Amino acid sequence: MSGADCAGEQGADPSSGSGPARVVITIDGPAASGKSSAARLLAQRLGVAYVSSGLLYRAATLLALRHAAPLDDEAALLALLARHDVRLHPGAAANRLTVDWADLTDDLHTDAVDGSVSAVARHQGVRAWVNARLREMGGSFVIDGRDMGTSVFPDAVAKFYLTADARVRAARRAGERGAALEAIAAELTRRDERDQRQSVPAPDAQVIDTSALTLAEVVERILAAVLRVLPYKAVTT
Ligand code: DC
Repeated sequence: MSGADCAGEQGADPSSGSGPARVVITIDGPAASGKSSAARLLAQRLGVAYVSSGLLYRAATLLALRHAAPLDDEAALLALLARHDVRLHPGAAANRLTVDWADLTDDLHTDAVDGSVSAVARHQGVRAWVNARLREMGGSFVIDGRDMGTSVFPDAVAKFYLTADARVRAARRAGERGAALEAIAAELTRRDERDQRQSVPAPDAQVIDTSALTLAEVVERILAAVLRVLPYKAVTT
């Protein structure tokens, strides 16, 4: 069975008494907006799991590339996904992704996957497959993606949508990958255009422009908003 394991506190009550049994916080936004770093740190501060939804789209893309499945053939992509055991393993700091129990995490952030993932993610059947994997996860977590607050977890306790100026995002991604700024900027613009349809803030999301903020400032801002809606008492660095 394909699935996702969640290292969060299954059914745990995070407060001393009357808090919600399960806490899901969504952080959406375009590529390199800082959402995954912010989501990871927020999860650590709250003591819950961090979940990267994009890894499932990346895994579907890697499978398609390795099996030479045409990226515009939704039936072929879905058949591949049905044939393989794709599992997301969330954790406090990082997520691992296995296919048939082989750990492929380190192969998911290549230029080849970056260049093809939007074509795979645009199929509604693939989106339904990813969303089913995410919805079957138990416990509390902070999850990042494009449509977590709109489509997948509309009842999330707190929703955020991070944006950043395109040049700032390109510079951040170039720093992470050690690649040329111009090439990264062009790739991000292409991916923004292709991802646009599924990447809109939920009406009840707090939109944060991270262009002029440090990662620590982004996390503090999100944490402050989360603490206004959660009964957590002590969350310290
Ligand atoms: O977050 P990321 O860069 O790892 O995501 C990779 C791609 O997956 C991104 O270009 C669009 C797609 N994606 C999506 O369509 N919906 C999501 N919830 C997450 C990712």
